[in-house]
Amino acid sequence: MLRLTQVSVTYPNGSIGLQPVSITFFAGQVTVLLGQSGAGKSTLLRRLNCLNRLSSGTMEVDGLGELSNPRIIREHRRRTAMIFQQHQLISRYNAFKNVLIGRVAFHGRIRGLFPLPRIEQRLALECLERVGLVDKAFERVDKLSGGEQQRVGIARALAQQPKIILADEPVASLDPGTANTILSLLLSICREDKIPVVLSLHQPELAKIYADRIVALSEGRVVFDGSPDMLCGDLLCEIYRCGALAA
Ligand SMILES: Nc1ncnc2c1ncn2[C@@H]1O[C@H](COP(=O)(O)OP(=O)(O)O)[C@@H](O)[C@H]1O
Ligand SMILES: [Mg+2]
Repeated sequence: MLRLTQVSVTYPNGSIGLQPVSITFFAGQVTVLLGQSGAGKSTLLRRLNCLNRLSSGTMEVDGLGELSNPRIIREHRRRTAMIFQQHQLISRYNAFKNVLIGRVAFHGRIRGLFPLPRIEQRLALECLERVGLVDKAFERVDKLSGGEQQRVGIARALAQQPKIILADEPVASLDPGTANTILSLLLSICREDKIPVVLSLHQPELAKIYADRIVALSEGRVVFDGSPDMLCGDLLCEIYRCGALAA
């Protein structure tokens, strides 16, 4: 459980990323964030991992309590894995080495300065196996396809043995078929391991297939929070401001 109470984010230039929002993310749930570009999806995801500055409000996590000091925040970040649209892989490293970086995130930077023992290396290979990429473990990631690179991104996240996974438009740069495959792979692994996921998508049709819960944002506010079957055409029109586009 990750609870936000009246959390807001205002950027140093005065832009509002998130208006005061109170929302709880529950264990075992796949939550999809929808909303137009600029709605606040990335700001919310980054806030969930304490990657931007909290302007107001409080956050509380199961087992850690309130994220109120640097030690607890560090621990929360260690338990939280992120998957990005552009993978954020190190292109000159092979897939295996990129996944091992997930273990560095798990252990912290100082431990990561030393070679990781065999057990860690085995875990990294197991994660690559789960995403169907063990045979490409020693290929440079810049030689892999977009879908394969995102599989490495997923394996790296899993290697962190996270309590929650956050994914910011993880399939936005993939073709529709690959997007479907990657999303289905990610979510089936997370369901199997009971890892809650919060991810943003810009395809409402994929959200309807894969989400347990949909949260829609507009101008930094939550404008819808419910199950996929409640998301009808009118609501989608409101979220994506079809009226404003037609006007
Ligand atoms: N680093 C930043 N500095 C200033 N303003 C930002 C920054 N990142 C996002 N914003 C602003 O915050 C709002 C929400 O943006 P964002 O969270 O990126 O939305 P989304 O991910 O839904 O496209 C937008 O108005 C955007 O311009
Ligand atoms: Mg974004």
